[in-house]
Amino acid sequence: MRIAVCPGSFDPCTNGHLDVFTRAAALADRVIVAVLINRSKSSLFTVDERIEMLREVVAPLGNVEVDSFYGLLVDYCKDHDVQAIVKGLRAVSDFDYELQMAQMNYRLAGVETLFVTTNPLYSYLSSSLVKEVAKHGGSVAGLVPDTVLARLTDKMASDA
Ligand code: PNS
Repeated sequence: MRIAVCPGSFDPCTNGHLDVFTRAAALADRVIVAVLINRSKSSLFTVDERIEMLREVVAPLGNVEVDSFYGLLVDYCKDHDVQAIVKGLRAVSDFDYELQMAQMNYRLAGVETLFVTTNPLYSYLSSSLVKEVAKHGGSVAGLVPDTVLARLTDKMASDA
């Protein structure tokens, strides 16, 4: 069985992420969306909130599950028998850092990284931009899954 992981912060998950999960699900037998627990980075949503949203988002995809991890991604891959890391590449600006990480992960544990080129509909989209637009009252409808939109709206209202 081929197992792939889609790692990230997902604070929050966007439709660009969902596009990558969907495409990874067509390539692997099983896909794990793995949320990084990063205690040194402040986030809008807690890890539990992000996991809840992701579980709702991937529910229609039969072979995708959601988990979290702390520490090195390659250790998670070894512990969970993951053969490949699948990531989206939005633009050339993503490439340098992604290449470094892919090469380091291969050097550390021989884990392959596969890149899918992001759907052009979402090439400008990032979790950071979504949060910034939502914080200032802009509409992110159509850019994030409905469950994320609802929670973002609630979060912005409670922080106002
Ligand atoms: O959504 P993000 O924050 O861009 O995702 C980055 C992520 C989680 C994929 C990356 O930071 C990662 O893999 N972190 C785990 C720690 C690790 O393995 N670091 C070495 C990478 S070569």
